[in-house]
Amino acid sequence: MTKPLGIAADHAGLDLKRALVTELEKRGIAVRDFGTTTSDSCDYPDFAHAVGRAIETDEIERAILVCGTGVGMSISANRHAAVRAVVCSEPLSARMARQHNDANALCIGARVVGTGTAIDIVDAFLGATFEGGRHATRVAKINLA
Ligand code: RB5
Repeated sequence: MTKPLGIAADHAGLDLKRALVTELEKRGIAVRDFGTTTSDSCDYPDFAHAVGRAIETDEIERAILVCGTGVGMSISANRHAAVRAVVCSEPLSARMARQHNDANALCIGARVVGTGTAIDIVDAFLGATFEGGRHATRVAKINLA
């Protein structure tokens, strides 16, 4: 990955986002943090859309989005045609989402998984490669004309 990895959270995901940034930096992965930066209550779509716009403009290739369940972030991010966001609560889905679906945004629920599992999910997502071939044909059919 040549571009920084985007990361964002709402207030519910802030602590997990901070833990993930620490882990990513330990792995030498450059991170671009889109917020939030305080525990004040905030609205997950604001952050999902900031990340979605950055994917659309090629400023970043991939991102991690954290909220309470990962659900609101994924619904919002998927409004951007260039985004394929997935909510994952275990590593297998994260790996397959890269290999078969070319997912570019990983959403995690901070109220759903613990930090250790979240790190395993992120490692699975970042360590996997899109397989192309028949999967590329299917991914090309996802967006409506
Ligand atoms: C915030 O309370 C919570 O609704 C949000 O973090 C997220 O889980 C929404 O999908």
